[in-house]
Amino acid sequence: MKKLNAVIKGIGAFVPEYRLTNEEIGTMVDTTDEWIMSRVGIKERRILKDPNLGSSYLGTKAVEDLLRKTNTKPEDVELLVCATATPDHIFPSNASIIAYNTQLKNAWAFDVVGACSGFLYGLEVASQFIVSGRHKKVILVAAEKMSAITDYTDRTTCPLFGDAGAAILLEGTEEEGIGLIDSDLHTDGVGLPLLQLKAGGSANPASFKTVENREHYIYQEGRQVFKYAVSNMSAVSVNMMKKHNIESNDLAWFVPHQANMRIIEATAHHMNLDKEKVMINIQRYGNTTAATLPLCLWEWENQLKKGDKIIMATFGAGFTWGAAYYVWGY
Ligand code: UT7
Repeated sequence: MKKLNAVIKGIGAFVPEYRLTNEEIGTMVDTTDEWIMSRVGIKERRILKDPNLGSSYLGTKAVEDLLRKTNTKPEDVELLVCATATPDHIFPSNASIIAYNTQLKNAWAFDVVGACSGFLYGLEVASQFIVSGRHKKVILVAAEKMSAITDYTDRTTCPLFGDAGAAILLEGTEEEGIGLIDSDLHTDGVGLPLLQLKAGGSANPASFKTVENREHYIYQEGRQVFKYAVSNMSAVSVNMMKKHNIESNDLAWFVPHQANMRIIEATAHHMNLDKEKVMINIQRYGNTTAATLPLCLWEWENQLKKGDKIIMATFGAGFTWGAAYYVWGY
């Protein structure tokens, strides 16, 4: 059998309608549009307002969009992987709920927890089932309802995050040099005290005290995380370019995790890239955790051409980080 690469066949997405602006955030906490724009680069983020809907709703809508766009029959999908840090429940998995909602009757399904690196972790995992020949059609969906774990009384975190779902269909190709060529993923548990959800897991189950202490919301020591993010995302992206002899001129697109405009700019600078080659939509969606990268691919899909060399890179809780080298296939 010829060697197979995993290739993206289509992208679907769903973003909630409600736009939470910096002005509205300024009515909740002591902040300004000027501070948020200059320190982070976010103007607005989408929020799923309905308290009865979780991230599986966003993932379901994204997968429905993907199935429609790619003309895929639900019964032909063999595996669904969901990257999420905000599942509806600790169990069952979000993947199970999304596969059920979208009638993927012949698929098995599981979640990948890589926080902001969830999409690249999921891409590597899902690709293995294609490359090995085990499955022909695999869906990777990233679904995050960050607003459910965001403390809108904490000005240091509440401007940062938004809700979204985005999904890709992966298939195999024998065409050489197309699809996922390489990925370089990392984990370092040193990040635990700097970025975490303190309560609700088995180490600190929900109690009156955890609610009172607001421990069910994102905790982040931003300045520290910022330093790790810039150095690790830059290093892993530059190394990927060196490893595959990619000069900045050869690269069609850089797709960075959208946590902070200054992190994106610093990483692009280390890669010696013009801003026109960098996919940036943080100003409109904020940080949607695992969904940032596929949301960029979805928005830029019409501009992508077969053979375009792309580097995707990310950094998040764990710490988790990595880069993928991908050559566009359609
Ligand atoms: O996606 C997962 C990984 N996460 C990241 O990559 C995020 C990395 N971190 C960051 O993006 C940035 O650190 C933040 C955007 C979170 C914060 O920006 P910063 O430039 O690092 O600000 P800082 O935390 O150093 O705070 C600077 C000042 C502080 O005031 P003092 O102590 O200098 O008087 C904060 O209290 O800004 C203050 N501040 C604010 N002021 C107005 C913090 N948040 C706000 C706010 N509005 N929303």
